[in-house]
Amino acid sequence: MWRKRPILPGMSHSILVAYASRNGSTREVAETVKRVLDAGGEPAAMRPVLEAKDLSGFRGVVLGGSIYRAALQQEAMLFLKRHHETLTQLPLAIFALGPIKNDPDEWARSRRQLDASLAELPGLRVRSIAVFGGVIVPHRLPHPMNQLPPSDNRDWSAIKAWAREARVALMQP
Ligand SMILES: Cc1cc2nc3c(=O)[nH]c(=O)nc-3n(C[C@H](O)[C@H](O)[C@H](O)COP(=O)(O)O)c2cc1C
Repeated sequence: MWRKRPILPGMSHSILVAYASRNGSTREVAETVKRVLDAGGEPAAMRPVLEAKDLSGFRGVVLGGSIYRAALQQEAMLFLKRHHETLTQLPLAIFALGPIKNDPDEWARSRRQLDASLAELPGLRVRSIAVFGGVIVPHRLPHPMNQLPPSDNRDWSAIKAWAREARVALMQP
């Protein structure tokens, strides 16, 4: 059982939540993951991947990205490449947003796409991986994607449950 510890001012962050989000939905999931980690007594720092330049001082990393065009978003891949050596030592949990519909084939395809991206980077110390439903906000997309119907396929209970699991997985020796 993990004891809850209060987060005191000045207390150092133990987990970095780094995210890559083109249209905002992955950032919102990262915010929820951070809140769950904070509430569980592992104070988390949250940064866009491009600003997450220094991983020193963290005991673990959560990387969030979305899947675009059959691959983990480029900036998230860049983060994994840039910090590859560190992330062969530091526990890592990864989540990706993708499936727009609750169609099992679509979920399986998104997971395959994520796995194929991660297979390019062997040796990462990945402790936990999750795919969550994605979001379409038509007015944020260029033509012809702006003709798609709006949808939000995120399951917040599943996201929070995974964040709790990821916290435990990241803290294991
Ligand atoms: C142009 C476009 C291409 C996409 N391609 C994929 C894909 O290949 N596989 C997938 O699982 N999801 C795909 N998605 C769904 C996105 O991953 C989903 O919309 C996600 O919520 C976007 O995250 P963001 O708001 O953080 O950018 C695509 C979405 C768009 C708009």
